[in-house]
Amino acid sequence: MPPESHVVTISRFLVDQERRHPEATGKFTSLLSDIALAAKVIGREVNKAGLVDILGQAGDENVHGEDQQKLDVFANQVMYRALDHTGLVACMASEENETFLPIPDKFEAGDYVVIYDPLDGSSNIDVNVSIGTIFSIHRKISAGERGTLEDCLQPGSRQVAAGYVLYGSSTMLVYTTGAGVHGFTLDPSIGEFLLSHPDMRLPEPPKKVYSVNEAYYARWTRGQQRLVTHLKTEGAFGSRYIGSLVADVHRTLLQGGLFMYPGEKGKPDGKLRLMYEAAPMAMIIEQAGGRASTGAVDILDVEPESLHQRVPMYVGSRDFVDLAERMLAEGSEGWRR
Ligand code: AHG
Ligand code: MN
Ligand code: MN
Repeated sequence: MPPESHVVTISRFLVDQERRHPEATGKFTSLLSDIALAAKVIGREVNKAGLVDILGQAGDENVHGEDQQKLDVFANQVMYRALDHTGLVACMASEENETFLPIPDKFEAGDYVVIYDPLDGSSNIDVNVSIGTIFSIHRKISAGERGTLEDCLQPGSRQVAAGYVLYGSSTMLVYTTGAGVHGFTLDPSIGEFLLSHPDMRLPEPPKKVYSVNEAYYARWTRGQQRLVTHLKTEGAFGSRYIGSLVADVHRTLLQGGLFMYPGEKGKPDGKLRLMYEAAPMAMIIEQAGGRASTGAVDILDVEPESLHQRVPMYVGSRDFVDLAERMLAEGSEGWRR
């Protein structure tokens, strides 16, 4: 690190950010610090996954009928236990739990709602490909002292913060509170997340890369098929697809491009979940100067109806998302509102 630059830990950065908001109480700073702690604990297990019996399936299924990996279960417990006793959280919700997660009666409840995908990209765990954790933070809106399901079903536009942890060649934490996107890299020798990517912005001009699982081509709508064919022929785009949302979005944030997880015939909403995948990623990408659409409407405007509802995702450089919306509208039904 060049000598003139300062070593800024995430805690120091959060305190400095807090100073700019006179109304800030420090509770939010504590909450993000607790999430950063959970990220370090999960990252430690991820990084030694090949050495301890934490790989492979947990022998159980999650609410989506997907085989739970041991690391899914571990990360889910770590996220909940890092936050449940803090007095900062009214309730939580997780990809791995069918219903929302109240705070145990023995602990005080707080003002924030944390919704998370504890381990994203589970199919890549056993092959040592980057995986992540995604979190979305709302304020409690229900009248009672403790959180309810209503607090967990707010549109993405009401998020007070969103972020992800990427367990890759290095462990990075990237978050936004609506004042830009900031990236921190874990220095394992001191166990601190250090500011490495202040004010992240999608680059202009963006890299012409599209990212989608083309194995599903036959199931796509005509508009989706025409869009991808256009990108790879007249558009002369390159293609990159990792199959971990956090890794694919992180690359898009750094290089620009267009990440897509489309709906398909019979499954118009696609695979990715609104509350803890699409909405937090949408806040981050939009705060970094990009766009995040369902293919028809802004993801941040989608009014949730259920905790695990799915939406199609078209996120990345503004011009590319605009193009996707145009081509989807021309030849086929866009995503229903
Ligand atoms: P999760 O592991 O939390 O269930 O998420 C997996 C998701 C997401 O990470 C990725 O974008 C997508 O699954 C990949 O799906 P396909 O394998 O169908 O391409
Ligand atoms: Mn996921
Ligand atoms: Mn997951």
